[in-house]
Amino acid sequence: VIEAAAQANTTPKPGAADPLFLRACRGERLERVPVWIMRQAGRYLPEYRALRERYDFLTCCRTPDLASAITLQPVDRLGVDAAILFSDILIPLSGMGVEVRFTPGPQLSTPIRNASDVAKLRVADARETTPFVLEAIRQLRGELPTHVPLIGFAGAPFTMAAYLVEGGGSRSFDAFKALLYREPRIAHRLLDLCTETVGSYLTEQVRAGAQAAMLFDTWAGLLSPDDVRAFVLPYAQRVLKTVSGIGVTEGCAVPTIYYGGESAGWLEDCRDLGAHVIGLDWRIRLAEARIRLGPHIVMQGNLDPAVLLGPADDIPRHVESVLRSANQGASGDSAWAAGGHIFNLGHGILPQTPPDHARRMVDAVREISMRPA
Ligand code: CP3
Repeated sequence: VIEAAAQANTTPKPGAADPLFLRACRGERLERVPVWIMRQAGRYLPEYRALRERYDFLTCCRTPDLASAITLQPVDRLGVDAAILFSDILIPLSGMGVEVRFTPGPQLSTPIRNASDVAKLRVADARETTPFVLEAIRQLRGELPTHVPLIGFAGAPFTMAAYLVEGGGSRSFDAFKALLYREPRIAHRLLDLCTETVGSYLTEQVRAGAQAAMLFDTWAGLLSPDDVRAFVLPYAQRVLKTVSGIGVTEGCAVPTIYYGGESAGWLEDCRDLGAHVIGLDWRIRLAEARIRLGPHIVMQGNLDPAVLLGPADDIPRHVESVLRSANQGASGDSAWAAGGHIFNLGHGILPQTPPDHARRMVDAVREISMRPA
């Protein structure tokens, strides 16, 4: 199995036949800027809502036929340059011993608040606890057009731990932050367990055929930059190392993407994470992010998702300003597609977004980034 997956996943030699998105992750010079959308498979699509009338969210995540059909929906409708597996960052929690319900916000069966709660948690082996995710990936690799690579993903350890302690979503995650400061040793033990679980989860996705691996650390920005260094980055780095490591030993090297949510306060620290691509929200100009990240890291983002709620005719202007900002920092070259940028929103697409507006954004990225700068 490993051999077959490694074969399916061996990074092809750089060249025109290699998908645009993967070449972008490697920082290559391109004919245009690639584009995909965080949460591109979801409630803003009528075809997703139609399926959800018949199946609940967890059934969609746990049934490979459904997960793969939903993954393909935005590829068909929008013509994006990458697919992202339809699933959720909280799916591996059941393997750790915590059940999650979505109503639609996540609700965990038992919040993890103290040492004995942490002691009850297990490290989940993805092959045993989430085989349906790996099956969906294998299936998708047979269904996706070869120019549309599949992104696998997981929640980063810090963000997973935030949900585990809080027992669900929260505005400020006070219970989680209280644990970090009152009981740092317990918090680190919890982060360790999440790191092992997420490491297995993402590694097995790559072995199953995911062609890029993304870590979502949506809540990292809750902390001060110093505490990000203590509680966030070392754990994300360990996962990224594990995932990159299998490329070396098993020949299935994949690019890695780290999204740190509101990360403008500690962007320099992202240089050393070991991620090829850093996802950015809209609170920073890409020209500034380029300076702070240095020349070698690829940037992904960062249009405010709310722009797609405004008039469709305004969208190209906003797209152009993001492209221009990314391009300003591009090293020594004035072409739009000089490399170093993958277009995306700065966070997930909003459920009330008109699908035509998402399409307008994708088209605008193509048109504008193919023009001479
Ligand atoms: O990007 C994609 O299209 C792939 C699918 C995907 C989902 N969630 C589907 C989903 C991905 C990559 C995620 C990541 C995720 N999930 C994150 C990190 C990125 C981010 O947006 O910050 C987080 C924090 C979660 C946790 C989560 N899942 C929340 C807070 C919620 C409820 C709030 C909401 O948006 O409804 C979910 C549910 C969820 N995950 C839905 C979808 C399509 C909605 C479920 C439904 O159909 O009712």
